[in-house]
Amino acid sequence: MSRPAEPDYQDIQALARFGHGSLPEALFLLLDITDPAKAGAWLEAAPVSSAEWLDTPPETALQIAVSAGGLRALQLDEALIEGFSEEFIVGMAADHNRSRRLGDVTDNAPQHWAWGGDPERVPGLLVLLYAKSGRLAAWREQIQTPLFNQAFNTVSELTTVDSENIEPFGFSDGISQPTIDWEGRQTSDLHRRDAYSNLLCLGELLLGYRNEYGQYARRPLLDTDGDPDAARLPAAEEQPNLQDLGRNGSYLVMRQLHQDVAGFWQFLDQQANGDPQQREQLASRMVGRQRDGTPLVESDPPSDPNQFDFHADPHGQRCPIGAHIRRANPRTGDFPPGVTGLLSRLVRIFGFGRRHPGDDLIASTRFHRLLRRGRVYGEQLSPQQALQADATQAPRGLHFICLMADISRQFEFVQNAWSMGPKFGGVQNESDPLLGNRQPLANDQPTDHFSQPTAQGPAQGIHALPQFVTVRGGGYFFMPGIRALRYLAHCATSRDKSKS
Ligand code: HEM
Repeated sequence: MSRPAEPDYQDIQALARFGHGSLPEALFLLLDITDPAKAGAWLEAAPVSSAEWLDTPPETALQIAVSAGGLRALQLDEALIEGFSEEFIVGMAADHNRSRRLGDVTDNAPQHWAWGGDPERVPGLLVLLYAKSGRLAAWREQIQTPLFNQAFNTVSELTTVDSENIEPFGFSDGISQPTIDWEGRQTSDLHRRDAYSNLLCLGELLLGYRNEYGQYARRPLLDTDGDPDAARLPAAEEQPNLQDLGRNGSYLVMRQLHQDVAGFWQFLDQQANGDPQQREQLASRMVGRQRDGTPLVESDPPSDPNQFDFHADPHGQRCPIGAHIRRANPRTGDFPPGVTGLLSRLVRIFGFGRRHPGDDLIASTRFHRLLRRGRVYGEQLSPQQALQADATQAPRGLHFICLMADISRQFEFVQNAWSMGPKFGGVQNESDPLLGNRQPLANDQPTDHFSQPTAQGPAQGIHALPQFVTVRGGGYFFMPGIRALRYLAHCATSRDKSKS
């Protein structure tokens, strides 16, 4: 089979390919579109950063994403908006059942959020600014022109701090990411990935490319006969007679996650009876890595902290099954290890031959990966400072951002089934030790336990784990390809004019 051509990097927003690690300053602006024609005029010329490789790293970057409400405000036809996925159109906070599945109840409930919680007032546009140290204010001034101020109303300004890749609880972050198969080296054939692989089809990140099922995600396709402006969009790969509004774009999920850093370390200290070594051990077991990022199971080679899976630790004696990274990425293949021949595959497909009670409860990971692009906010508190009785309770946490082609199958599945799920991998009565809201289920089943199996005897259990992370805002956005963004801008300017 011939390899597909390289993607058009000039049409892809840089954030999909680069985390902007060399740009430590960042500011996220959540905007309402108050004047569509002016918004369109600003968007037509906005210096959006593309994924094209530059020989000299950029000093600044700009990325833009839009919510379903924002697409409406930009005058995109309703029929085209309906071509996007249902969860994007409905939004993160508008459906009570979705909120329950995501764990957004009680203190996490959308009515308490600082932004995004009121379905009638979801910000239309998300503008992400990045800059080298000391350059952010000037970059913002350059972007926030008088036209910008006439076009938009700022709903929220999310500031960030340069935490040097340490998240607020004190752990190295941003270590494990899927390797995106930009060059189409791997087929999406269902039987070539029996074991865990970190390489992921481009169609799991960008719309308009084949995903891990060998299929294309749902997205709006246009006919140039009905809309001559659509000619500026790329052609759809599987239907070249149609233009693709989704191609080279990604969904962007954003959640503002407040972290109770003092509560986290003080609880662990109490569990460890003040013993610093036990405290660190418990913290690392909750995350699944030591604070410096070393995984709790051996990686091979040891110099690469991302080359491991959990098959040699089926009962979670080294890395508890419920640890954050094991829930967020169980590193499973399509079949458990040792299942290679046709016969043993069939045995597994029909549900026989389970070796561990959790085997069949964890789906193959390659269908549920996320590309994380979050940034930290708030004044940092070291674990030592957090242990002091007078540790400050300032707003601090993570502006969690992830990119994907299917919000439901990727972000929502990981958040709901794996992170919040109280029956993950055979463990009961638990949810993610970092993220869980600790609320009992409808049948009163608790979710506030955390078990650490030991080689010597029964699992050591913690009960009454407090809530350490609280949701303070969130939304579903679409980060379009750059040509699609210019098309949206053009819709806003031309249609708004034609109305007057
Ligand atoms: C305040 C909240 C959070 C904190 C403090 C946190 C912390 C961490 C840390 C320390 C790691 C290990 C470092 C790494 O591999 O990069 C990690 C990994 C990860 N987290 Fe989180 N995280 C948070 C929220 C979330 C959420 C909401 C999700 C998704 C629903 C998520 C998904 C992941 C994934 C997919 C990984 C990589 C797992 C792997 O591939 O090994 N995290 N997180």
